[in-house]
Amino acid sequence: MLKEKMEKALNEQINEELYSSYLYLSMSAHFQDINLPGFANWMRAQAQEELMHAMKFYDYIMERRGKVLLKQIKTPDYTWESPLAAFEAALKHEEYITDRINNLVEISIKEKDHASHIFLEWFVTEQVEEEASVDDIINRLKLVGASKGGMFMIDRELGKRGFTASSTGDE
Ligand code: FEO
Repeated sequence: MLKEKMEKALNEQINEELYSSYLYLSMSAHFQDINLPGFANWMRAQAQEELMHAMKFYDYIMERRGKVLLKQIKTPDYTWESPLAAFEAALKHEEYITDRINNLVEISIKEKDHASHIFLEWFVTEQVEEEASVDDIINRLKLVGASKGGMFMIDRELGKRGFTASSTGDE
């Protein structure tokens, strides 16, 4: 059985992951709007990945015979002044999520909940990857600056991203 404090915090994380999915889907729609289909594709795959993260928490709570309590998801932004601004917002959000995951780990340690601690380790590693991949795109965007050709090339690169089982961590 999950302890109350752990269960509450894990439920809150379902909401955070669903909001992450919402945010990236909103960014995807924005990129589609401004004719950057590769950026839109990347964000859409990211939104799907976040949904998988939410479901991992959902399934874990169920497995531990806890109660899943879904709450309202806040409204994401709809527009960003540039692709760089959107990715900087994504990085800021991922840093926030990393803090949340670290906080969950802290709770699992305090509550002596070893199973949750082990479950959360996957997310600790995942956050390192998430921050690194967004940071890499930020660096590429900074490098090309206002160059339309450079932006076109990044868009083509990001268009290659697919959503596979391996990106869900279930490999
Ligand atoms: Fe599920 Fe991007 O953190």
